[in-house]
Parts: sequence; C-alpha cells; structure tokens
Amino acid sequence: MEAAPSLYRGGGMIITIHNAKGGVGKTTTTINLGVNLAAAGQRVLIIDGDRQHNATFGLGCDPQPGVYNWIVEGRFEPVSVRPTLDLLPSARKPSWWEQSTLDVVTRRFRELPAYDWIIVDTNPSQSDWVDSVLKISDAILIPVDFGLYAVAGVSELIEDLDSSRIIGLVPVRYDLRNNVSIELLEQLKHMGGSLVSPPIRISVDVERAAARGQSMAEYNPRSKMAEDYVTLTEWMVTTLAERIEKHPHR
Ligand SMILES: Nc1ncnc2c1ncn2[C@@H]1O[C@H](COP(=O)(O)OP(=O)(O)OP(=O)(O)O)[C@@H](O)[C@H]1O
Ligand SMILES: [Mg+2]
Repeated sequence: MEAAPSLYRGGGMIITIHNAKGGVGKTTTTINLGVNLAAAGQRVLIIDGDRQHNATFGLGCDPQPGVYNWIVEGRFEPVSVRPTLDLLPSARKPSWWEQSTLDVVTRRFRELPAYDWIIVDTNPSQSDWVDSVLKISDAILIPVDFGLYAVAGVSELIEDLDSSRIIGLVPVRYDLRNNVSIELLEQLKHMGGSLVSPPIRISVDVERAAARGQSMAEYNPRSKMAEDYVTLTEWMVTTLAERIEKHPHR
C-alpha cells in the first residue's frame, strides 16, 4: 500500500487504531474489527497496547502483563480468546511503554508468528510505544467522535502522522437524529474525503457488551451498531485491497 515494505514477516497486516484524543472509540473499534475478522475465519492477533487494559477486559480476559513480557523480555505468549483470535493482554503494571524504542518494537513485530491481521489498540497519551507502533504500522485507522472540536482535532492529528499510512477516519457515536452529528459528518467528509469510512451509530448496548467480554455482533447481532461494525470491517478490507492494487510495493 506504500513504498516501504511491511516489516512484518508473517504475511498479514499491522493495523493500529489511534487517536491522540481519549474516549473516542479506539478500544471498541479494535475489539469489533478483531472479532469480526476472526468470525470470518481470519487469523487475528489483538495487541492491547494500553495500560488501562480495556481491550483485555472487553474481550473477557483478566489483566496480565502479556505486552510487557513480549516487549521487555521477548516472550510472546498470547491468550486464545476466540477460535482464530489471539490476544496479547496488558495490565496496569509493570510498564513497557518507556522501553518501546523504535528498535525494540521493530524487532518484536518482525518476530511475530503468522497472522492475517494484527490489530493494535493504543492509549491516547504520547509515549515511545505509541510513536514506535505508529511508525511501523502498515495502516492507521482513526476513530473520530462527534464532540465539539472533533474535526479540528483530526486535521491536526493527520498533520502529525505519516498520512500515507492513514487508511480511514471512522465516525463513531453517530446519531442520525442529531443535527450536530449530521453537520460534523459533512465537515469530516469535506476534510477527509474518501478516507471517511461508513459511520458507527450510537448505541446504549456497547457497555453491556464490554461488561460481558463480547463484541457487538456477539452481544446482539441484530443491533445497528453490530451491523455498522460489519460494514466497517468489509470497508477496511476492500479499501486496503484497493490501495495494495494501486501501490503494489509491499
Ligand atoms: N458507538 C458507540 N455508541 C455509544 N457509546 C460508545 C460507542 N462507541 C464507544 N462508546 C463508549 O464510549 C466510551 C469510549 O469508548 P472506547 O473505550 O472505545 O474509547 P477509547 O478511545 O478506547 O478510550 P481511551 O482513550 O480511554 O482508551 C466507552 O464508554 C464506550 O462504551
Ligand atoms: Mg481505549
């Protein structure tokens, strides 16, 4: 998809879910994309790259220092959370994010076994870990919530990142009945053009699903939000395939 070849030797793609703003739907997007891809038979690894360990919890796993053991000690010991879905869990302590130089992170990702997709959840604050993982990702997906200043924040974020790696801006918590939502989506499309993915609608079920350690499709497959994440998963796969076709350098 870009001139630089992927450093990952396992054949799949490293997708990082990122936004420098907190609480915008990064973890929810990580879990739902990962579970949906795995449900389609893809081999998926989710890396919970956030010391708050929300993705670990949201996939029904107890906090444990999986990412620490991998980054610091070179021991890759994922937990199998669904038939073709592995999770590298995290825990509040001990820290790994200060030891994640670009060198170390590059080496660790290069050594990973074969997966079709590696999806990395990130924390919003700046750290060596987030800086490094953004540099080595094949694609970056940015969830955008519909708060005031959301669109301005995203345009600054795009300037800070290597924009050729950004695969999509995902409007999250979209409310069809709210004029502010509709207007902000228009603004986002004006700024992001074809980078803007189909939106994820707002739902009250999302926390109930997380509390049970389930994705939306597992909790209530008929909900609008479950449908939206299926659409987003398909959109991401198609968009990446089109990019690779246009720039077959990987
Ligand atoms: N489509 C949605 N509808 C309603 N609530 C949502 C939706 N998506 C996410 N949320 C809720 O918004 C909150 C933030 O979501 P999430 O934890 O995924 O964001 P985050 O970007 O990972 O946050 P952090 O920066 O703290 O890691 C959570 O309480 C989540 O349940
Ligand atoms: Mg999170």
